[in-house]
Amino acid sequence: MRSRHSRLYVNIDHVATLRQARGGTEPSPVEAAAVCEAAGADGITVHLREDRRHIQDSDVEALATSITTFFNFEMACVDEMIAMAVRLKPSQVSLVPEKREEVTTEGGLDVLGGRVRIGAAVDRLKAAGIHVSLFVAPDPRTIVAARQVGADAIELHTGEYANHLADPATLAALVDGARIGAAEGLSIYAGHGLTVRNVGPVAAIPEVTELNIGHSIVSRSVFVGLQEAVREMRRAMDAARYQHEI
Ligand code: PXP
Repeated sequence: MRSRHSRLYVNIDHVATLRQARGGTEPSPVEAAAVCEAAGADGITVHLREDRRHIQDSDVEALATSITTFFNFEMACVDEMIAMAVRLKPSQVSLVPEKREEVTTEGGLDVLGGRVRIGAAVDRLKAAGIHVSLFVAPDPRTIVAARQVGADAIELHTGEYANHLADPATLAALVDGARIGAAEGLSIYAGHGLTVRNVGPVAAIPEVTELNIGHSIVSRSVFVGLQEAVREMRRAMDAARYQHEI
């Protein structure tokens, strides 16, 4: 039987968003990471954006030593970020596309168009002993290209699914993408726009072993606290896996 427990990595970017609103020191992402870990998160994700709108360099430096579970460092595929990762050696780097004007990560990486650049970044990161994941749309050619450039894993972009829940094609694309990626030998992760209400069908995809979830957990924490918000998500994920297996 497959493991019922796919990993939950909590993205704490928006803890920093709240801090940046006043430019002070609270709330602290380091403290948030520790609370998430105590509540059962399997890992912590942060995205150091080129415009530094939420997470700052000093946060990444501090988190690199404070996180006791698994540190997933999300970044654009640019020299500055790759060099920082090679120096700090997080457990994993997730490469994502980044546009300055976007509110959040809008699409997946263009692995086909950026083969050479992405492949070189993957090589540098893997040489430093870092596990590398590429954030991609569930497009079969892109998934095959992710394997060809040497990635260890893909994170399937669940934004289309989350925004069009009534359209079964969006879930079917994730199910197919997960199967294709696993057949290529990649580890399969997923994330973006997931909530306790829509996470079930994604958590139930057998190949998916890790979910990255941020905004909905941090939003929910305003009402129930961060520990409980993490636990609610964990329960929603586990319930889905369980239903899938019986
Ligand atoms: N995965 C990736 C690659 C992302 O860029 C993001 C958003 O930063 C997430 C997951 C988390 O998305 P959300 O905040 O909508 O849960």
